[in-house]
Order: sequence, then C-alpha cells, then structure tokens
Amino acid sequence: MIVDRIIDNIGQLCTIPGQVQRGSTLGELGIIENAAIAILGDQIAMVGTSAEIRAECRADTTIDAGGRLVTPGLVDPHTHLIFAGDRADEFEMRLQGKTYLEIMEAGGGIVSTVKKTRAASVLQLVDSARARLDRMMQHGTTTVEAKTGYGLSAESELDMLNAIALLDAEHPVDLVPTFLAAHAIPLEYAHDPDAYVSLIVDRMLISVAKWRAKMWSKPIFCDAFCERGAFTLAQTRRILDQAQFVGLPVRLHADEFESLGGVGYAVDIGARSVDHLLVTTPDDVARLGASNTVAILIPPTPFGLGIPNTAPARDLIAADAILALGTDCNPGTAWNESMQLVMALATRQLGLTPAQALAASTINAAYSLDMADQVGSIEIGKLADMVIWDVPDYRHLSYRFGANMAHTVFKRGNVVATSM
Ligand code: NIG
Ligand code: FE
Repeated sequence: MIVDRIIDNIGQLCTIPGQVQRGSTLGELGIIENAAIAILGDQIAMVGTSAEIRAECRADTTIDAGGRLVTPGLVDPHTHLIFAGDRADEFEMRLQGKTYLEIMEAGGGIVSTVKKTRAASVLQLVDSARARLDRMMQHGTTTVEAKTGYGLSAESELDMLNAIALLDAEHPVDLVPTFLAAHAIPLEYAHDPDAYVSLIVDRMLISVAKWRAKMWSKPIFCDAFCERGAFTLAQTRRILDQAQFVGLPVRLHADEFESLGGVGYAVDIGARSVDHLLVTTPDDVARLGASNTVAILIPPTPFGLGIPNTAPARDLIAADAILALGTDCNPGTAWNESMQLVMALATRQLGLTPAQALAASTINAAYSLDMADQVGSIEIGKLADMVIWDVPDYRHLSYRFGANMAHTVFKRGNVVATSM
C-alpha cells in the first residue's frame, strides 16, 4: 500500500480500541510494542508492528518516534474556552476563606466574566481563546468541547457560538460547541430568573437551531448549570426539554456543590453527559451505571477551588458507568489547559489507574461528544490524531506532572506542535 507517511519505531503504542469503555472495561489500551502507524490523507491507514507496516506500506516520509510512547490525541470534553478577562481577585478571596458560592451570591463569579465577555468583540474573544487552544494542543489535546455561557443574552450567546465556529475553522484542533446560556442568571434578570429561562426557551434555543442549520454540520450540544444559585431542577427541565425538542442533544453540569436531582433527570432524558458529580448520591451512581449517559469527572475544579475531590469515581466504575475526564478550563474555578494534569490528578484523587485515566481522556471523552467514530483511538479509518510523548510508557502520563511531556502532536495526519 502507498501511504503518505509512516510513524515508525514506536516503543509503546496505545491504540485504545473501540467506541467506548464502560465500567470495568475502562483502561483496555490495546498496547502494541515496537509499533508503526501508516497515514493516508488525514486518516489512519494501517496500525501494527514495525515489521508488519514495513512489509505492507511504502511512504515518502517516515517519522522516527525514537522508541517513545504514542497515544491517540487527547480529547477534552468539558471546557469554557471562550471568555474575556480573568478572576485572579476571586482566587485571592478564596485563599482568604470565601467560598465559590459566597462570591457568586455577592455578585462575583460567572457574572463578572459575563461583563468582560459582553464588552469584547467576537474577534477579541477568538484571539484570547486561541492562546488557550494553542496551549491545549501543545499539551496533546486534539479535540475540544467549548461552551458558551458568558454572554447570557440572545445576541452575545450567538457571538460566542460564532467565536467558536471561527476558531474551529482556523485552528487545527476540532471544536465541539455547547450552548450554555443556562450558566448563570444575568444581572438584568436577577429579580425574575424565570423570565430569563423563558427567554432561553422561547427565543435563544430557536435561534441556536437556526444557527446550526446555517453554520454547523458537526455535533453541537446544549448544557445547563443545575445548582443552588444558578438553575433549579424545574428551570433546568424547561431548558433541556426544549433543547431536545429543537434537536440539540444535551449535557448537564450537576452535583458540583449540592445535589438538586439533576442526574436522575439527565439520565431519564438520555443526556449525553453529566459533569462534575462531586456530591452524587449512590442512587444516582446506580442510575448512571444503567445508562449511556457519560459521567464526566473534572479533577481540576476541586483542585482549583481548594476543596476535596469527592466524586465517586470507583463507585461509578463498579456500577458499570461510562467515565470520562475533562479540564473545565474556565476563569473562575479551573483555568488549566492540560489533560496531562487531569490524568495526574485523577489517579491520585479519584483512584483511577493510569490506564483508566488515559482511556477516560481519549475514547470515552470522544464518545461523550458523539465523536468516537472519528477520534479517541488509533484505528484504521479514524482521523490521524495522535501524540508522540517523550516518555517510555503510558504510566508516565499520570506518574509525572507539572511539565509538558508531549513531543510531537499530529492532527489529521499533520504535525501541529513539537517540543523542539
Ligand atoms: O464548571 N460550574 C459552572 N461553570 C464553571 C465555572 C465557571 C466560572 O466560574 O466562570 C464550572 O466550574
Ligand atoms: Fe464547567
């Protein structure tokens, strides 16, 4: 077979095969030692041992992986990539003892980023998000979910979607947009939150459905923050029921601080994911285990807030749930761009094995975005998204932390970042 390029001399290749790894199957890495990968166009054409690939394939270009580890490109299924400004002041307030919910109730938190985001132009939003997306890519992430949610008006939420679409078009990393107008109650509706919910239900979701029909052919989701101080379960229901009605699959921020019953509802309506789950009850763990709703755990958030990570990761795995990991990159709780950090935290705080953390950061994260037919594993026909890591085996991705171990990052078969 004539191919475009071969990556040869891979010491350890983790293919992480399949479409999803639920329960105790999490962590099946499909390891091939002394491996090679053949790439044709933007896809993987063949995977095997070096001897097999050399016997079968010819290419003009061969890249020598130098005996290093190769994995699929990492997938980050939960980010608030698009925002303006920062909240370093709130970080200091939390260090002095104020809690996230106290700061939010006193008028800080998400709505303070909303002010800055509304004041920014679409191009300014793209510029600031590009810097973060570049860092994600340099750290080995090749597919990223990106939420709106700092506009909170019909116009500025659409601006955020447009910023995501512009950045997706110009950047090697693929973005998956999520509409999160239900992130906080904007100040102008503080006296009447239900009127804001009506605005989302009666107007905004319909314009998103139209935007999608005109502008977007890839997956897109709708999300809500079901939490004390944000949206009640009744409000969340109104929003996500309507989202499904207009054809948007849904995800949910649930159980980050208090459990309002969002998980049970999300499972009942077939949500694609429920995210955070720090205070999820045993009943809801069992519900997730019997569903296809992905439990996305986000270790940087409790770390960023300086609170214990109480997400029931091992119980979820024992209950046969589908578990994935994400960064939650956002200016309030967890400004971080590295899925390597997420794996380092997940192994220590949540008791995942390094193999489980890697599968949760690749194939299961891809499944949660409805992208597992294209990314998340190194298999024939999938996009040639992968990372050569400057380490000898996959355990190092969790074992080491604080420095970037990505050596060469490939997106759709092209080198998009190197450590040189
Ligand atoms: O996932 N929980 C809601 N959203 C973010 C926080 C966003 C912010 O504080 O700006 C989160 O933690
Ligand atoms: Fe979030």
